[in-house]
Amino acid sequence: MTEKSQSVDGGVETEQGSDSLTITDNRTGKSYDVEVNDGTVRALDLRQIKTDDDDFGLMTYDPGFTNTASCRSAITYIDGEKGILEHRGIPIEQLCEKSTFLEVAYLLNFGALPTEDQLADWVYQVTHHTYVHENIKDFMNGFRHDANPMGMLLASVGALSTFYPEAADIDDEWQRHVTAVRLIAKVPTLAAFAYRHSLGMPYVYPDNDLSYTGNFLSMLFKMAEPKYEPDPRLEKALDVLFILHADHEQNCSAAAVRVVGSSRVDPYSAVAAGVAGLYGPLHGGANVAVLRMLQRIGSVDNIPDFLQGVKDGNERLMGFGHRVYKNYDPRARIIRKHVDEVLEATGKPSPLLQIAIELEKHALDDEYFTSRKLYPNVDFYSGLIYEAMNIPADAFTVMFAIGRTPGWIAQWMEMMQDEELKIARPRQIYTGPRTVDYVPMNER
Ligand code: SDX
Repeated sequence: MTEKSQSVDGGVETEQGSDSLTITDNRTGKSYDVEVNDGTVRALDLRQIKTDDDDFGLMTYDPGFTNTASCRSAITYIDGEKGILEHRGIPIEQLCEKSTFLEVAYLLNFGALPTEDQLADWVYQVTHHTYVHENIKDFMNGFRHDANPMGMLLASVGALSTFYPEAADIDDEWQRHVTAVRLIAKVPTLAAFAYRHSLGMPYVYPDNDLSYTGNFLSMLFKMAEPKYEPDPRLEKALDVLFILHADHEQNCSAAAVRVVGSSRVDPYSAVAAGVAGLYGPLHGGANVAVLRMLQRIGSVDNIPDFLQGVKDGNERLMGFGHRVYKNYDPRARIIRKHVDEVLEATGKPSPLLQIAIELEKHALDDEYFTSRKLYPNVDFYSGLIYEAMNIPADAFTVMFAIGRTPGWIAQWMEMMQDEELKIARPRQIYTGPRTVDYVPMNER
């Protein structure tokens, strides 16, 4: 905690160039010296700026938290202007090329790459926690056949907190660890169960002989064959996709996990809040929205008219734009490279890919988009890969959730060890009426 800043009128002189701001309140003529740390000022240091003793003091007002740091974090670094993404300092490009999703999940949660033994133990733990309680099947069967799988995932992740009530002991290190393992292990099982439910197909139990992504493909697509044999090219592509979605600092869903987790609720419930945040079309739901948008455009000939509709404000160019990236999202660049590979593996031509490529070209040649720094983000191409893998569109966001689960847990773990952790409780600017008398019904 930085000590309280002093009002300059109190005779505290600040030398030029000190890490501080001197704020002059023109309403009173008073000046205040506020410390600057890590490029921020503490919002609470503004509270001392008042017009009189009855004044509550200054607050900051920042809808959508566009310019507010909510925490200190060492998990993910993003440079939006340069299109840089690093996890624990390691560039995403290197992780996609050299690592695996479970190794990245370890890196995010433990802060360093594992030794060979640590990785083997971590993979063993995750592999042997993929089953879910049989009652989950009854729970899943309660949904309509056409229930959105994100709604099903949201409900079942929250429900896990009732199967592991001991996870509420959030100060117990083992409970935190085993919950991290359980969530990373079981979210794919819940996702696959939701998919099989939507088809009216029997659930496929986890196969411990397969890799994390191979097992997920088996739980999705295994039919009557005695053992599912995943295509290694699809296993690899899915592993890279999950790495690319693993964490992204204080995005909407990670912020939701932190806000809900700050009440000291169990981590299953906090991660369920993250699933809920990701569900939205402006966040994780964008990959589905991109596919629908490409289907609606229908042909490269229609791209100019569509983009005009965007400029006229009738459409959003889904899969473009980002709160932080004001350059090409490095993840989009990597995914783009894998699209061709997956299409070759599945032998499925993708007419939508051609539309997406042309759409990107037109948009990046158009000052309307470049002036607003609207570039492709992680969601622009990912749906094309999922579609080629025969994953239904309304399950694309579930794929995002599987990838993001280790990130949500890592953010929760880091928050729980933050000595500045307080329950999240923002203030407001009240705009409503005051002291209004109740009006009896016969006088309304
Ligand atoms: C993810 O935060 C993360 O890290 C998220 C994520 C992660 O890994 O967790 O990266 C994953 O959510 C990626 C984003 C997926 N969403 C979409 O692709 C939906 C389409 N994009 C947007 O709606 C938008 O770009 C956001 C939500 C992503 C960012 O919105 P901001 O930062 O609040 O920006 P804004 O809405 O204030 O837009 C700034 C300007 C506006 O124009 P003006 O009003 O100033 O004229 O850009 C325009 C917007 O209208 N704009 C777009 C646009 N995105 C912004 N115009 C057309 N198409 C778009 N996609």
